Formats: sequence, C-alpha cells, structure tokens
Amino acid sequence: MKILVTGGTGYIGSHTVVELQNKGFDVVIVDNLSNSKIEVVDKIEKITGKRPEIEVFDLVDREKTSGFFKRHNDINGVIHFAAYKAVGESVEKPLKYYRNNLVSLLNILESMIETGVENLVFSSSCTVYGQPDELPVSEKAPIKKAESPYGNTKQISEEIIQDTVKVEPVKAIALRYFNPIGAHESALIGELPLGVPNNLVPFITQTAVGIRDELKVFGDDYNTPDGTAIRDYIHVVDLAKAHVVAIDRMINNKMKDKFEVFNLGTGNGYSVLDVIKSFEKVSGVKLNYRIVGRRPGDVEKVWANPEFSNKELGWKAEKGLDEMMESAWKWQLELQKEQNNQ
Ligand code: UFG
Repeated sequence: MKILVTGGTGYIGSHTVVELQNKGFDVVIVDNLSNSKIEVVDKIEKITGKRPEIEVFDLVDREKTSGFFKRHNDINGVIHFAAYKAVGESVEKPLKYYRNNLVSLLNILESMIETGVENLVFSSSCTVYGQPDELPVSEKAPIKKAESPYGNTKQISEEIIQDTVKVEPVKAIALRYFNPIGAHESALIGELPLGVPNNLVPFITQTAVGIRDELKVFGDDYNTPDGTAIRDYIHVVDLAKAHVVAIDRMINNKMKDKFEVFNLGTGNGYSVLDVIKSFEKVSGVKLNYRIVGRRPGDVEKVWANPEFSNKELGWKAEKGLDEMMESAWKWQLELQKEQNNQ
C-alpha cells in the first residue's frame, strides 16, 4: 500500500510518515520545503530504516500535481498536510493563504479523480469550532465564523471536500486537530519553527535555552481557574498514529459515510501556566515569563470530546502533558547540540 503524504517533511507530516512506515506502508512525500528541510528525510530513514520517496514541488502548480499523480499510478491514498498555518500571518496576507491552501486542495482532488485515487485524509483544525458554546467540544458542535483567514481555509476546505464526495468516487476523513506538541522520542524529528515561533511550546523551549529572552503569557484575566487560556495539548506521535488508523479505515472500507470528521484531542484542558509548570518540572529549568495582555483572536478555552474518535477509530491519545513537554525539551536540546556542532 502506497500513501502520498503532502507536507511530509513538516512537523506533523514527518511524524506521520514514520508511523506509516512503521506499519508497513510505502510513502511518497510531496513537499515544496517552504517551511521544512530536506534533511528530515534522512532522519525518517534513521528512525524507520526505510527512506521515503520525495518529490519537491508546489502543489499549487496544477500541471506538476497532475503529472505527479499520472506518474505515480500506484497510490492508494493521500494524507494532505501541506498548507500554511500561521494565524497572524494569514490576517496580514489573506490571499497568500487562500491561494496556497485552497488551490493545492483543488489540484489534489482533481488529480485524484483523474487518476482514480479514492482515499483522502485531510488536516483540519479545532479552530473551526471557534469558542464553542459547550465544552468539551464534540464533532456535532456548530461551525462558528472563522477568526482568521487561516481558519477560514480549513472551513472552506472541509466544504469543498464534502461537496466533492457527494458526486465523485472520492471519500474523505477530516481530522480536526487540537494543539499538537512534543516530538518523536528519538529526538531526530520535531517542530522546526522558522524565525520567532508563534506557538506556545517552541517559544517555551527556545526561551529556556536562551534563544528568546522571555515568554509572554497572553492574558491572565480569562474565565479559567488560573486566569490563563486553556487548550487540549496532544502529543504529535499520538496524532500521527490517528492518521494511520484513518487511512486503514478508508482502505478497508470501514467508513460509515463518504465524509467523516474526527476530533483529535486528549479530552484534557491545560492552562498556559499548567504547561509552564509541567515544563519546569520535567526540565528542571526555571522559565523566565511575564504576563502581558491577551493576544487578539485567541479563544478562552477549548478542549475536545474525543469519545467519538476513541470509539469509532479505536484510537486514543496516550501521552500525558509531562511526557509531551519532556519530548519537546529533549528535541530542543538536540537542536542546540546540532547547532553547536555546525
Ligand atoms: N501563548 C502564550 N504565549 C506565547 C504563545 C502562546 O501565552 O508566546 C498562549 C496562547 O495565548 C494560547 C496558548 O498559549 O492561549 C496556545 O497558543 P498556541 O499559539 O500554541 O496555539 P493556538 O491554540 O493559538 O493555535 C493552535 C494552532 C493553530 C490553530 C489553533 C486552533 O497553532 O494553527 O490552535 O485550532 F488554528
């Protein structure tokens, strides 16, 4: 069985390639390396003992995408990660986000139909729920108006896919991620933020090694026990494993509908201060942080109801917060080592 993983050298993509190969799938990656490095392929090979194929091009290019699918006529399914994901940047450059995230999806869907590939797993996000009226949030919760063009690309993408599966032989699973953090236990792959990280955990680990002066905690006046915002952090390897289950489900015709949606979260909500405390505990490093005002666009609290995913997929996130922070720290230390050797 051969799976195309778009964005396979990225953060979640690379961990998913590892899990797919561990389960015996052949993988071909397409990535334009806009936010990742080709060396990730060596690391995947080191972990799994198997080198995935890779082609470097932009899926926004229709000709190249179509040519790729025609050449690789043995693909059984597609896991589509390749997309821009910085919420703030998407507000500044909406068209960049709409073009990249939507055109690539259209090209992939058209090429799949053209070449008879029927199975698509799509990277979606809990951002589609906005600030949910009820917590924990289940897949049945209403979709709220998107807070950012990035979030809107995820909503529109789900709609495009839903409309397509109604009339084409394609079926799809959208996986709505909560907050993926941590890194592979080997510390050979992990999150590689270019420039100043937007996300909490890379900012914490970079502050701890002195790349950043201090972590700014965005707001302590939320309606939460300690006043800081709450998220459902999930280990990236747990998340990656869910993709393998989803692909298996499609290939083995276990889907109950041509379009299915699953929450990928743990069901536990942690505040920003909880995350900092866990980091300090596992690393033994005292973190330099300061409370500042809220970040525009942030929701107050969101965590998943993972019951449907647990039951239907037979999948459950296994790793706890300390384990996640420990792996993120180990990865940061490995990056420092690599840098010192250069
Ligand atoms: N935070 C800080 N300081 C920082 C960075 C983050 O206090 O320097 C706080 C945020 O305010 C938030 C929490 O840490 O309360 C988590 O923030 P992240 O940026 O790590 O994650 P978000 O929940 O904002 O965003 C994530 C993904 C998005 C996705 C969104 C909702 O990064 O792609 O979840 O699904 F859209």
